[in-house]
Amino acid sequence: MPRDVIIACDFKSAADTFAFLDKFGEEKPFVKIGMELYYAEGPSIVRAIKERGHKIFLDLKLHDIPNTVKKAMAVLSSLDVDMTNLHAAGTIDMMKAAVEGLTRPDGTRPILLAVTQLTSTDEERMRRELWIDHTVPDTVVHYAENAKAAGLDGVVCSPLEASIVKDACGSDFWTITPGVRFADGDVGDQKRVTTPAKAREIGTDYIVVGRPITAAADPVAAYRRCVAEFIG
Ligand code: C5P
Repeated sequence: MPRDVIIACDFKSAADTFAFLDKFGEEKPFVKIGMELYYAEGPSIVRAIKERGHKIFLDLKLHDIPNTVKKAMAVLSSLDVDMTNLHAAGTIDMMKAAVEGLTRPDGTRPILLAVTQLTSTDEERMRRELWIDHTVPDTVVHYAENAKAAGLDGVVCSPLEASIVKDACGSDFWTITPGVRFADGDVGDQKRVTTPAKAREIGTDYIVVGRPITAAADPVAAYRRCVAEFIG
C-alpha cells in the first residue's frame, strides 16, 4: 500500500500556489487542489502543476445525476489527475457511472475516493436536517461499503474513522484523512484531529495536511516533519 503526505494547496490564485511550490525546489510533494483554486483558475492550474512534476488529488466532491457525473469524470480523467473524489450520498449508481467515466480507453484511471459524511456534519444535524437516523460511524461505514460495492478505491474520512472503515472494507480499501495537526501545533477550526504519527499508527494510507504546512514559518521543514512522522 502506498503511504504519503498530501499538501492541501488552499490558495486563492495560481501565483500564490506557485510561490509556495517554488520553496520546495526539486522536491515534488503530492498536492491537493480544492474548489477554491480550481474555480478561480480552471483546468489550466491542474496542467501547470502536473507539468511541474507533482501528483495531484483534485478534490471537487462531485454529486449529481449519474450521467452528468460520468461525463464530468471523463473530463477530469483527461486532465491526468492522480486522484479525485465524489460524494457517496450520490448513490451506488452514481459512483459506478463515475468509475466508467473516469476509465480511459487503455483501461487506466485516476484513484477514485468517496466522501462519506463531511466532518462538519454532526449527528444532531444528520438527524434533524438530513433525516438520517443512524450514528455517524455507522453511516460512514455504510457509505464506505457502498463505495466499495461501486468499485471505488477508498474514502476520505476523519482519522478517527479510518480503522472502522478498514475493519469493514478490508485493509486494501484506501483511507485518506484530513484533520492532521502536530502535537505542539494550532488546531484551528478542525475539531477532531490527530498527529501524523498517530495517523500512521491507525493505519491510514494518506494524510491531507493544509495549514500546518502552508502557514508554517518554514513550510518545507514542516512538510519534512510530517513525512518523517507519518512515513518514517
Ligand atoms: O488546513 P487543514 O490541514 O485543516 O486542511 C485540511 C484540508 O482537508 C482542507 O483542504 C479541507 O478542505 C480538507 N478537508 C477537511 N475535512 C474534511 C474534508 C476535507 O479538512 N472532512
